[in-house]
Amino acid sequence: MWKGRLAIIALLAVSLLSGLSMLTVGGASDDQLEVYSWWTGPGEEEGLAAMAEAFEAANPGIRFVNAAVSGGAGSNAKAILASRLLANDPPDSYQRHAGLELLDDVRSGKVRDLTELYEQQGWRKVFPKGLLDNLTIDGKIYAVPVNIHRANLIWFNPRTLRELGLPGPPKTWSDFLAQAATIQAKGKVPIAVGPEWTQKHLLETVLLGELGADSYERLFSGDLRWTSPEVTAALDTFGKVLAVSDVKSAAGEWQPQLDRVVEGSAVYAVMGDWSSSYLEQAKKLQWRDGYDVATSPGTQGVYDFLSDSFTLPSGARSPDLSRKWLIECGSAAGQNLFNPLKGSIPARTDAEAGLYRGYLGWTLQQWRDPKTRIVGSLTHGVVANNAYNAEIDSALGLFVQHGDLGKFAGTVQQQFEETR
Ligand code: GAL
Repeated sequence: MWKGRLAIIALLAVSLLSGLSMLTVGGASDDQLEVYSWWTGPGEEEGLAAMAEAFEAANPGIRFVNAAVSGGAGSNAKAILASRLLANDPPDSYQRHAGLELLDDVRSGKVRDLTELYEQQGWRKVFPKGLLDNLTIDGKIYAVPVNIHRANLIWFNPRTLRELGLPGPPKTWSDFLAQAATIQAKGKVPIAVGPEWTQKHLLETVLLGELGADSYERLFSGDLRWTSPEVTAALDTFGKVLAVSDVKSAAGEWQPQLDRVVEGSAVYAVMGDWSSSYLEQAKKLQWRDGYDVATSPGTQGVYDFLSDSFTLPSGARSPDLSRKWLIECGSAAGQNLFNPLKGSIPARTDAEAGLYRGYLGWTLQQWRDPKTRIVGSLTHGVVANNAYNAEIDSALGLFVQHGDLGKFAGTVQQQFEETR
């Protein structure tokens, strides 16, 4: 109850502040660029800060205004952005994921067609076709991808595994559940989770691991029902995984979720590879030594991808300036500056592989391997539109309370049909 009220008060305050800034700033837009994202805090903000600096250096006299709103996976930023767009107060560029997340903005005319910019910059040749398809609606391209992130990863501290005598990270979810019994007997939490979106991220990887890539895709295209025996079995596994997590006491964001793994009170965490940036830069840990990572159980050879992209909003105050930012996002120099700091790999296919070391080198090789099976993330906007994703959020929030799988599956199936 209080949480809800606080969220509403915070939302009103931010809307008011953005309204005020519009009053004071409105019109004087040629000397500043307002970029909207949710990249704040350690592991999130470093890449953006480097791009901001490069932008200001390349555009003397223009101030980069960082309008980031905290909350992992855009959990707060997306709601506040929606109110700004509704009030026709767009930033000069905003973050969206490639995929169905972009669709509403295109359909409601909130973003401008970037096809010409793509032609001019030769970008059709440098981004992978599958990614371009996820940015194209009715033949027009609407956003510029700055990176590729991976969602299907399980993070751990190798020292904890050694101390517990565990042979290595689990290869399947049933392997994980077997390990969980040993881990609990030794007084530790088998898997750490954070806020609701991290639980959905976990759900996505359990579904992928249990169903396999084909059925995962069929689930989100509507060819496989949430209430089918196959999905029911996968959801049952998810329920068991959640039951050995710290969901009851989980608080804070994805960084504290990983902190528990680093400190050793929890053994595993499923999270995207922005974690590598946090673990290396904020926690000063080295891949394979202070921390380690494997593909999440059951997903070997699969790359559950997402891509952070930037848009040119309709009604942006200075579209030429916004385009300069987009050009930086799409350029090889911009991508190579941003990605090693962000813990992601470049969206461009021609970026220099040598810059990506440690974990990033490992994952880049898999991304580029033609044998790797690529699927899109649920939590991070690729395979579900915003309305459907929001309905899954509500149903999942309730499921965590009541634990009724049938009810959860039935609601999500119905919402799929209603929001498509
Ligand atoms: C994702 C986003 C990533 C990272 C993560 C955690 O949605 O694409 O870049 O920021 O959320 O906030």
